[in-house]
Amino acid sequence: MPIEKAYDLLKQSIIYYHGEPIGTAAACDPDPVAVNYHECFIRDFVPSALAFLMDGDTQIVKNFLTTVMQVRYQQHVMKGHKRSLGLMPASFKVITTDHDEQIIADFGDRAIGRVTPVDSSMWWMFLLKAYVTTTDDWQFVQSEDVQVCIKQILDLYLRERFESSPTFIAPDAAFMIDRRMGVFGYPLELQALYYSLLRNASVLLTNNQGNQSTLENLQVLGDALRDYMRTYYWVDRKRLNEMHRYQGEEFGLEVVNILNVYPESIPDWMYSWLDRRSGYFVGNLGPGLIDFRFFSLGNLLSILFGLATAEFRHAILNLFESRWDKLIGEMPVKIVYPAVTGKEWNIVTGSDPKNVPWSYHNGGNWPVLIWPFVAAALKAGRLEAAERAIMLISERLKQDNWPEYYDGEGGGLIGRRANFYQTWSATGLIVAHQIFENPQSRELFERITADMPT
Ligand code: GLC
Repeated sequence: MPIEKAYDLLKQSIIYYHGEPIGTAAACDPDPVAVNYHECFIRDFVPSALAFLMDGDTQIVKNFLTTVMQVRYQQHVMKGHKRSLGLMPASFKVITTDHDEQIIADFGDRAIGRVTPVDSSMWWMFLLKAYVTTTDDWQFVQSEDVQVCIKQILDLYLRERFESSPTFIAPDAAFMIDRRMGVFGYPLELQALYYSLLRNASVLLTNNQGNQSTLENLQVLGDALRDYMRTYYWVDRKRLNEMHRYQGEEFGLEVVNILNVYPESIPDWMYSWLDRRSGYFVGNLGPGLIDFRFFSLGNLLSILFGLATAEFRHAILNLFESRWDKLIGEMPVKIVYPAVTGKEWNIVTGSDPKNVPWSYHNGGNWPVLIWPFVAAALKAGRLEAAERAIMLISERLKQDNWPEYYDGEGGGLIGRRANFYQTWSATGLIVAHQIFENPQSRELFERITADMPT
């Protein structure tokens, strides 16, 4: 059975420290594409954690949360700068020295391209909420260490920078897409995660006197972000038509085309992409910019975390259904559609041979995305879509030895430089399977991602 094999891989991937399980390796490939795939990545651990929690195996999740909290202090500080303890690492590993074991964290200072893991603290907060929802261990959440950690995260993530909107500004390649792919500024996935951070923190931060104004602020920021996303990131036929007729060079407070986007910049494929029932959140916004690419994870997380209204959920699922061949193809789910090609590929990716069109981050298909897809489909009440996707993935993934990603427009080929035995390809399937088949797991998952107070 594919699920049993997936569990075997999960077990094999567990990383121990002083005999205690503290995380899972990103891949168990004996010959990985890069050495750090043997480390525990914060974002890769998310489906592992959900799988453990659904099985009542909660200690490893608590150990992980504690470990990540502790290794924050290892952050390397540039000359003239101050340490920001709200930042969490991209990954960590355990090394054995002469007489002992040591945990070493990577904050992007060793990673390819030196990318900053902005999503790590957001995922950590999500897992803290998932852990306490499962265990009711509020004593842990309310412990001084955890409360200080939450405050330090908020201190960093709520800090004023140069924003001109309620959205979260981020450096390039700071999340799952951790290479140059034109995902700097205000990428959708980080907006969805930021929204979850704001909402989750307001549940997890102790409601004492000293936190009153922070708690109120979290509410205000969350509401403003939600409204902004629903207004400016959302595109459907009606919105597209408005954009198609946009006036440029508008000045002042009351203008419609606030970012001065020229209709001429709307890509040709957009005109036949949406039918009347479909819609989605665009990938990014900036001055003169709407990145119309469809980023699956950002859209799915928007459904899960409640950025999408009930109507929007359906519209996103309608898009998946009407564009099934393109967005699901032979292996759920396409990470981004469409791929950038030609001269645009040179400019956007920096001529990255790993991100050639329809490969890896540039339009590859990623099995790990099955869990948010199934979860979002269930939240939208679209059981059939969830089942169809699970059917496609189950047998194939096991036979192919759990590749990290697939190549090709339809996602039919094992990715050229994909690892095998990629842990989140297996755990993605486990989580999807659990929430689809097991009412208890589904109920737990629904509580974890229940719509936050609006
Ligand atoms: C790649 C992915 C990243 C993932 C890491 C480990 O760098 O882009 O999202 O966390 O591999 O699997």
